Amino acid sequence: MLTLGINYSQMHDSSACIVRDGQLLFAVAEERLSRLKHDAGFPKLAIQACLDFAGAEPADLDEVCFGWQTAGPIFRHDLKLFALGRYPITYLNVLNSTRYFLSMWHQQSGAKRFTQLFGPSKARFRFVDHHFAHALSAAAYSGFDDSAVVVMDGRGAWEATSLWRTRNGRLEHILTIPYPDSVGVFYSEFTAYLGFQRNSDEWKVMGLAPYGKPGVDLRPFIDLAAAPYKVHTRRLFSSGAPFSAMISLLGPARLPESEIEDRHKDIAFAVQDACEAAMMSVVRLAIEKSGCRNLCLAGGVALNSKANGKIAASGLVEKLFVQPAASDDGVALGAALAPYLDNGGRFPNKPMRHAYFGPSFTDEQIEAALRTYKLRFTRLDDPAKIAAELLSNGKILGWLQGRMEFGPRALGSRSILADPRDPEMNAKVNNAVKFREWWRPFAPSMLAEKAPDYVESVTDSPFMILTAQVKPEMRSVIPSVTHVDGSARPQTVEKEINPLYWRLIDEFGRRTGVYVVMNTSFNLRGEAIVHTPTDAIRTFFSSGMDALVIGNFLVEK
Ligand SMILES: [Fe+2]
Repeated sequence: MLTLGINYSQMHDSSACIVRDGQLLFAVAEERLSRLKHDAGFPKLAIQACLDFAGAEPADLDEVCFGWQTAGPIFRHDLKLFALGRYPITYLNVLNSTRYFLSMWHQQSGAKRFTQLFGPSKARFRFVDHHFAHALSAAAYSGFDDSAVVVMDGRGAWEATSLWRTRNGRLEHILTIPYPDSVGVFYSEFTAYLGFQRNSDEWKVMGLAPYGKPGVDLRPFIDLAAAPYKVHTRRLFSSGAPFSAMISLLGPARLPESEIEDRHKDIAFAVQDACEAAMMSVVRLAIEKSGCRNLCLAGGVALNSKANGKIAASGLVEKLFVQPAASDDGVALGAALAPYLDNGGRFPNKPMRHAYFGPSFTDEQIEAALRTYKLRFTRLDDPAKIAAELLSNGKILGWLQGRMEFGPRALGSRSILADPRDPEMNAKVNNAVKFREWWRPFAPSMLAEKAPDYVESVTDSPFMILTAQVKPEMRSVIPSVTHVDGSARPQTVEKEINPLYWRLIDEFGRRTGVYVVMNTSFNLRGEAIVHTPTDAIRTFFSSGMDALVIGNFLVEK
């Protein structure tokens, strides 16, 4: 059976993946190919890339599975919220809701767009419940026989949080907390109030939080005593001026790019704290209702690596798997597996140990790109060794190797690398390359077997999706990847999974005694992570990086 999974909702992070007989072959977000960050358009480039990789024609597909219900149920839920007064009836809200419905209805929720672009197909079109798709994207890649599954995002068609359990390849629903009672919306509204972009910049709030102190009372917006949580949506979505309740209770909203005041840091602290408490409360409920201590997490809220780290360290869960593409790009993975559950079937359960499911480029293709730009380059016998040598000399490297990662994190295929020992390196990379906010931490990649030397509690973290505390004695050893609160968001690199990247870190360790490199995504601020050699070359020459190691080639400035 050949199935195509698609995320398309016109909201954010369109993506596609292709699965053959239960095996994920290829997955890519549209933004990487279109170069529009968080591209919400129909993922035509991603779909074509999936078909090309599988050597398939659209006619070969058995199922085309969208990770959303059709537009009707979403619109009906919105109408119900308007009628019940749970969603303010403003001109803009009604217009947005209606416009969304009409657009998706006209496109038959994506099916018509698919046929227009790829021709008629014998494939069955399937519209999978959004949270079901999220849940499957975590459970079916966890490798756990039995698990509790928690999905938390901004919204599905009507869901905000849902709990599930898996037993022998079946996925059973436990309960749903409907939208807009949503931790994701709570977090993203405060992200916007703090002057950042909703559904995109939540990282910035999470990074800012440790600079704040306790004291801001967010109980008017979220009640954590009402287990597992209750979001006061009437205040959150004020019907008057934007953020009117927040402004009257917490002061003026921060203007984008304006100075960060202590007040903003304290609010970020409170928002992060509330999110962690709500997630912990939901996880507790899921474990209680399912009777299972293996936990799978998905949905945009599960990108909160700080909260995930606390869940991992809480002792509540035995084993934890967080789908690395936890946001909506990942529903393509779950949707593509939905047909396996038909007629009493079971979902395939193949543990996901890496996220290298995207496109790759041969040395011939890379060399052609380098020659197009008339660049001077060196051919390398051992890119890992040369990269380690450059890093140990304080150089900032662009590193493009192998198949691109699926999900928001760069994990050693499309990365910018630097020396974590230099306390100034954070500022150097920020000034030279990332041009991003001073308070956002950079993350370490470390050899999996050396991880216990550097961090507490977490020793298995292949996806940089949970934080851990850096051991006190190591904070001065790797200062540029240790956050102000002593935490880090490690990637543990296994030799069998990514031998080249493993060897780079090992070579760096042999030279310096530190088996850790600083790893951040290979992109400039506000841009999607690089995809092609040409993207990498452009980014390299638009920044202060010192060298580019791309396939078996080295370009230096
Ligand atoms: Fe979602």
